[in-house]
Amino acid sequence: MKTIGTAREMQAQAELARLAGERIALVPTMGYLHEGHISLMREGRRRSTLLIASIFVNPTQFGANEDLSQYPRDLDRDLKLMRKVPVDLVFTPTPDQIYGKDFQTSVEVTDLTKGLCGDSRPGHFRGVTTVVAKLFNIVKPHVALFGQKDFQQLRAIQQMVEDLNFDIEIIGMPTIREVDGLAMSSRNAYLTSEQRQSALALSRGLFAAAAQYRRGVRDHDALRDSAHAEIAADNGVQLEYLEVLDASTLNSPTGATQRLLVAVAAKVGKTRLIDNIVLEPGAGEFAQVRESIHESARSS
Ligand code: PAJ
Repeated sequence: MKTIGTAREMQAQAELARLAGERIALVPTMGYLHEGHISLMREGRRRSTLLIASIFVNPTQFGANEDLSQYPRDLDRDLKLMRKVPVDLVFTPTPDQIYGKDFQTSVEVTDLTKGLCGDSRPGHFRGVTTVVAKLFNIVKPHVALFGQKDFQQLRAIQQMVEDLNFDIEIIGMPTIREVDGLAMSSRNAYLTSEQRQSALALSRGLFAAAAQYRRGVRDHDALRDSAHAEIAADNGVQLEYLEVLDASTLNSPTGATQRLLVAVAAKVGKTRLIDNIVLEPGAGEFAQVRESIHESARSS
């Protein structure tokens, strides 16, 4: 596994790899890796002949009062985890490598970045799409993998790729959770054990909405209420938003909506956490069948 620190060298290596007929997969990250990141890398490994991961804590996606300077970092540990996948090349640029003194260009996805995290983190998604566009130009991947944990980010990147004709396949990967349901996140490292208990209210709320959906509940307010009851019950959680939306447009659901997104953001202490779940008929019906089998087993 080789580490590359400069954009110029990364671009040269990527070009050589393409000329040699390699299929390049990219997993962009901000490091402090966990099993969620690793699941993206394993899938990238499966889909490519050259797997590249980037580790870059991107300053332009952090607001002035956010956790840029405290964001957890441990490159040695990250490198060990990536060697096991194995990742072929790790791109670890410095901010100066990515943003020159005269930097003045950005990529902005307008509609999909309104609402949800776009409201509470102005400029955040502009920072994300700009750095991801730059990483695409530097690493030249054929395929890039992102987690559904950051659902609005994934949708914005899909839209950017479509709108700007990036010739890159974007793969959205399922959220990896701890056994107790907590969505894995580098920011979980900030939580005390008491706060971690409170944080569980988020996934508990989402699972409660999913259970209602499986029982046939389709009313958006009722689904939201079932999640809200769980989340509001823990007074260690300060809710920022809890919304039921069309998973494709991220607008309010309509008659044409096929998949619902239940998305939550909350602060636990000073730590801002997000989580979501996608509800769709197929999976629900299957689960409903399972549930009725359980019920008939119980009653017999
Ligand atoms: P980061 O938070 O490090 O996440 C890197 C990738 O891992 C993202 O695609 C994210 O959605 C995915 N991921 C995080 N937690 C996950 C989980 N529990 N299960 C599955 N996937 C998970 O997201 C970013 O970095 C940055 O915004 C970035 C895209 C790198 C641009 O700077």
